[in-house]
Amino acid sequence: MTGLERSGEGVTGLLERYGPWALVVGGSEGVGAAFADQLARAGFGVVLVARKPEALEEVAERVRAHGAPCRVLALDLLDADATARIVEAVADLDLGLLVLNAGANTYRSRFVEADLARVQAVIDLNVTRPLELCRELGARLAARGRGGILVVGSTAGYLGHADIGIYAAAKAFARIFTEGLWLELGQVGVDVLHLVLGLTATPAMERAGLDLTGAADPADVAAQGLAALGAGPVHVVRQQAEVVARRSALDRAVLVAGNYSGMRAMLGRPSPDPD
Ligand SMILES: NC(=O)c1ccc[n+]([C@@H]2O[C@H](COP(=O)([O-])OP(=O)(O)OC[C@H]3O[C@@H](n4cnc5c(N)ncnc54)[C@H](OP(=O)(O)O)[C@@H]3O)[C@@H](O)[C@H]2O)c1
Repeated sequence: MTGLERSGEGVTGLLERYGPWALVVGGSEGVGAAFADQLARAGFGVVLVARKPEALEEVAERVRAHGAPCRVLALDLLDADATARIVEAVADLDLGLLVLNAGANTYRSRFVEADLARVQAVIDLNVTRPLELCRELGARLAARGRGGILVVGSTAGYLGHADIGIYAAAKAFARIFTEGLWLELGQVGVDVLHLVLGLTATPAMERAGLDLTGAADPADVAAQGLAALGAGPVHVVRQQAEVVARRSALDRAVLVAGNYSGMRAMLGRPSPDPD
């Protein structure tokens, strides 16, 4: 049971349980902006982190229009001091909710031909920074005995992929890590959730040129995540429940090779796109 209810106005009870401040890492557009909007409507103060200052300011204006305070921090999570700067930016706030959303794939390559610096960037965005933030800010939540951590994952993390294998493996790592954190922090009153998305109509996917027919709506998946915060460790968005069930079957060779062939056929090109 989540103890949270969805209404026409969004999820009620969130502020009491996870307020008063939320940090949205990757909050300048798409799903992150939808989280910010819904949290502001619920009465949270919101801290937004991403690279593009103008996009951050646009979201901040919408947050403030709901009467909620908002701070923005423009930085690249791949910079070595990113975690320290985020921790410093929220040091004086009563932070109750951490949303780790940034992490779409940034590199495609056959692994044995890959540029290892670009491989490392995928790992840093999806693994290293989230671990650092969960260590630093999770400790604060644990000490106050109340709060939540939501990590955004992908159906790609349920099986091996050619060309985007590092992204898929990083998402799998993040999910298993989050499950363990759910066990540890649940004992001290902090809810932890891994939110698994499939294709979602975000600006990043538009820029990547993907066909977004049938893609999920960012506002819908963000609302599903907030409603499921207390029902961790994992929430697969309802649109992807069957896909994830299929991808969890035991005959891995049939599954992994079959998915690869299916994606090639669907896309009419030699290698699959991230999902
Ligand atoms: N969209 C999909 O179809 C889909 C499917 C499955 C899973 N997901 C997951 O959903 C999450 C959101 O994906 P998305 O499609 O919105 O793309 P995304 O590229 O992860 O962008 C999300 C946010 O993160 C910020 N961001 C990205 N890289 C950053 C960096 N290096 N430093 C600081 N901020 C950064 C972006 O803003 P800036 O560009 O301004 O930095 C944006 O605000 C990801 O974790 C992704 O893996 C998405």
